[in-house]
Amino acid sequence: MIETKRWNLTENGSINLSMLREAADALVAGETIAFPTETVYGLGADATNEAAVSKIFQAKGRPQDNPLIAHVATKEQLLRLVENVPAYVDKLIDTFSPGPITYVLKSNGSCAPNVTAGQSTVGVRIPSHPIAIALLKACNIPIAAPSANLSGKPSPTTADHVWEDLHGKIAGLIDGGATGVGVESTVIDCTQATPVILRPGGITREELEDVVGNVTVDPALEHADPALKPKAPGMKYTHYAPEAPMWLVAGGNEKLQALIDELVDNGKSVAVLANRDSLEKLTVDHKFSLGETLEDTAANLYDGLRYYKKADVDIILCETYPEIGIGQAIMNRLRKAASKYIEE
Ligand code: TXA
Ligand code: MG
Repeated sequence: MIETKRWNLTENGSINLSMLREAADALVAGETIAFPTETVYGLGADATNEAAVSKIFQAKGRPQDNPLIAHVATKEQLLRLVENVPAYVDKLIDTFSPGPITYVLKSNGSCAPNVTAGQSTVGVRIPSHPIAIALLKACNIPIAAPSANLSGKPSPTTADHVWEDLHGKIAGLIDGGATGVGVESTVIDCTQATPVILRPGGITREELEDVVGNVTVDPALEHADPALKPKAPGMKYTHYAPEAPMWLVAGGNEKLQALIDELVDNGKSVAVLANRDSLEKLTVDHKFSLGETLEDTAANLYDGLRYYKKADVDIILCETYPEIGIGQAIMNRLRKAASKYIEE
């Protein structure tokens, strides 16, 4: 166990510069610090320091073959980590960065080998959260940062989520309140003539296509064929799982209600994660509202997946969402989190 320092930078809505300095100095000294981004909380370490980066893998229990994203404050810093950058990446950066998007490009070797898990490519991103940007500027080094959860659990969207998973295992945590987008960045492979989505996320396929025309999706994400190996190594692992088993149920409220009734008749304690309107129509003991819009659902999703503990309920049911816009990222995460998918 190590002592985890917790800083609150958002009192009075402003960033406390002396606390920020302390956190930045710890990162430069090779410590691990969790911080908010606009997507989820990240667990950061100096991306050029192999020993520092290995502390991330240790704290999370992360498989060694899963590469990390290097976070930087500016386009200039980003371009200093990579080579062979296609022209369309320039356009994407100018349109979407800072923001919830990660570019996988050929590495020029500036990051420590464990950041890239030995691959020739590196994922790079410019977060837009004011605390993340201020921290990156204050330490002036690329920061490797996966989501700040224990491997396999839902990503953290509040400082309390991070604390629950990692206190005693990391040097510090900057509490910047709830993150905004709620699902992670879109990861796109930019090593080919056209961009390929490796993980759907905060920037949607539709938004990308508006800027660069044709965008494809890694076939391993779209098919259930286990022989297809995802190009983002992280996408092959069980992920986002709640403590109690969760079933993803397509087909609407009537079908959901019938299933609830059947489970309750069999003595089960049931919780439902759903849209506010759906919840109003359902009769069940435990309800967690994911809000109204798809954007609300993304923002509240991981809090919902973490909300019910093993002791609270036997089973969690969750409705499905249309796979348009941010709905693609939501359904990608729900499929991974669910132990069973009851399709229409
Ligand atoms: O929004 C986000 O991206 C958050 C915040 C903290 O920035 N970070 C995040 O990191 O989600 P992580 O490590 O939980 O997920 C990174 C994903 C993994 O699926 C990983 O396999 C993939 O990106 N990835 C990273 N580098 C890659 C590379 N060089 N090639 C292919 N996939 C890569
Ligand atoms: Mg993660």
